[in-house]
Amino acid sequence: MDVTAYHGELTRAHWDLLLEADPHFDAVLAYTPPQHGEAEVFIIGEAKTPYAICVIVPIKGGFAIKNISTSVMMRRHGMASALIHHVVELARERGAECVEIGTSTTSHDQIRLYEKLGFKQDGILRDYFLSYPEPIIENGLLARDMVMLRLNL
Ligand SMILES: CC(C)(COP(=O)(O)OP(=O)(O)OC[C@H]1O[C@@H](n2cnc3c(N)ncnc32)[C@H](O)[C@@H]1OP(=O)(O)O)[C@@H](O)C(=O)NCCC(=O)NCCS
Repeated sequence: MDVTAYHGELTRAHWDLLLEADPHFDAVLAYTPPQHGEAEVFIIGEAKTPYAICVIVPIKGGFAIKNISTSVMMRRHGMASALIHHVVELARERGAECVEIGTSTTSHDQIRLYEKLGFKQDGILRDYFLSYPEPIIENGLLARDMVMLRLNL
């Protein structure tokens, strides 16, 4: 599956995907280009209307996957896994020590996917999602805490 780096302006289609994974518009704005100068965007599919997208930013010792999203019709075809593999290999080539990803403790499927790819739970950010403008309900539960998962390279 072809993963490519995207260097253009974010389109409506990109935003739809990004907001599906993280509905906090201001937060997404802050970790995507051009506002975040070091953020990198990777996609699968057409550049301006991709099937899947992923945003990474540098952190101490490596990279954080800040957003990952696959369009509803294309889920469970391995696209998120391919994006994560790509980012992990890139991080390794760049000499990073780790790749991190955070998600709500209520995101059971996402946590299972990341753990299947080798990430290990590495801490909880209590009440992280309570600062979001709208409450997030997932699997019948209020999203409150963020679980951080880490892959050591
Ligand atoms: C979470 C998300 C990004 C996963 O995207 P995806 O492209 O469907 O992910 P993958 O296809 O790589 O893996 C998803 C599942 O499909 C399975 N899968 C992968 N390829 C498959 C295939 N060819 N056939 C059937 N299943 C497959 C994987 O094993 C995985 O199963 P699991 O959930 O039991 O571990 C997607 O569901 C999404 O965009 N959700 C909304 C936004 C979101 O929650 N983002 C993450 C925020 S932290």
